Amino acid sequence: LLSRRNLLKASAVAGAYGVGIGVAGKFGLAEAAPEPQLLTAVKTEAMLTEAGPTRDIMSWGHDGMPPTLMMRKGRPYAARLKNGLDEPTTIHWHGLRIDNRMDGVPFMTQPYVYTGDSFDYAFTPPDAGTFWYHPHCNTLTQMGHGMTGVIVVEDPADPEFDAEVVLNLRDWRLGGDGQFIAAFRPRDAAKTGTYGTVRTANWHQEPRYDAPAGGLVRLRIAVTDVTRIFSLKMEGADATVIAIDGNPVPKRFPLDLLQIGPGQRLDLAVRMPDDEGAVATLEDIRGTAPKTIASLRAVGSSLKRDIGDLGPLVDNPVPEADLTAAEQIPLVLSATAENAAVESICGTLGYSFWAINKVPWPGDTPDPTAPLAELKLGKSYVFNLENTTPHAHPIHLHGMSFTVISSSTREVMPLVSDTYLIQPDEKVQLAFVADNPGDWLLHCHIIEHQKTGMTSYLRVS
Ligand code: C2O
Ligand code: CU
Repeated sequence: LLSRRNLLKASAVAGAYGVGIGVAGKFGLAEAAPEPQLLTAVKTEAMLTEAGPTRDIMSWGHDGMPPTLMMRKGRPYAARLKNGLDEPTTIHWHGLRIDNRMDGVPFMTQPYVYTGDSFDYAFTPPDAGTFWYHPHCNTLTQMGHGMTGVIVVEDPADPEFDAEVVLNLRDWRLGGDGQFIAAFRPRDAAKTGTYGTVRTANWHQEPRYDAPAGGLVRLRIAVTDVTRIFSLKMEGADATVIAIDGNPVPKRFPLDLLQIGPGQRLDLAVRMPDDEGAVATLEDIRGTAPKTIASLRAVGSSLKRDIGDLGPLVDNPVPEADLTAAEQIPLVLSATAENAAVESICGTLGYSFWAINKVPWPGDTPDPTAPLAELKLGKSYVFNLENTTPHAHPIHLHGMSFTVISSSTREVMPLVSDTYLIQPDEKVQLAFVADNPGDWLLHCHIIEHQKTGMTSYLRVS
């Protein structure tokens, strides 16, 4: 039997003669090392369209696409951010429950990292799964221009797959010449957010990767777009949902039109077709016609694997809230009538369209505003999150994971997560233990919403 690492190598080699840029090939290159991994923020170029290279791409390193960072659960990781941009930046490690000083929110958890400066991040990821990283400053620009990378935290106890493919899903706001156009339209920021014009998976339009026929592929999907909510479906193969937002699902289920919003992740076990050359396609079904996102082509003779062969994922060590003692925190999302600018040290969009508990908060970092709530370290809390707007919002909490307890509009499973996609008119209860001291942001991950009022923070002490 091939070892897991060999299988990963094999799939990377296979991918090299597809459209693939060998995402799986990045595995193993960046093993958690005692030496800090150098992440240099730069302006660069990338081939996103046939119109030629897109300028003003922002990334870490000149590759265009940010590296997929490999970490190991429970093992120290270190990175040195060097800022080669002409504006300040930071790195936020989305979904990782780490020390507040490493959270990457300027003026709240760390100073700005100015042009030419560097900042050392060091932490030990407590949870295994699919996570991601991005700046927390001038985010509509920096993320919109490409600074959204995937993090894979491995657990040696994870079940074995025959191949692993990472899909970083995002759009770009480009004109017909392949160059960036205005990042947003105010009238859209007041609604769903402004959509990109070019869709990509791993910086490619509709990429195709090779994977062993009849094999089990772990597809790690991260929605790193600033706006788009995907409704995902797999054609041509059975796909089973094994984890959402980095955490194993309490009960596995077949993928069928699952909505995944900005900031969220989805791990699938895809059973590849048996026939060599057969193709499985990941599609987005929102809107009118299904849109191909990426596809997997079966290569070799069938491994004849069975989804039943797949062992369980190990649950992450997230503390369980004590619901009998939990204090309730109301969180009401609303649209604001006022049209005033929300000032922010991290750049303003010049509008305020949204509010949490009636306060339109400033953007990437909530300046000196008082926290929305002060929590006692170690105590259990329940967010009563209510969406009074006609739009969905992926609400993200930094530093701690919550468990979905109940929803007014649907059956929910007790999913552990850091981002909840709340639908219009939905009320949901999210329980958590305030076990991580510090100031922690809570915001919508549709970045235009975040930057026009839908951001706040909690203080845990
Ligand atoms: Cu991806 Cu403040 O978050
Ligand atoms: Cu929102």
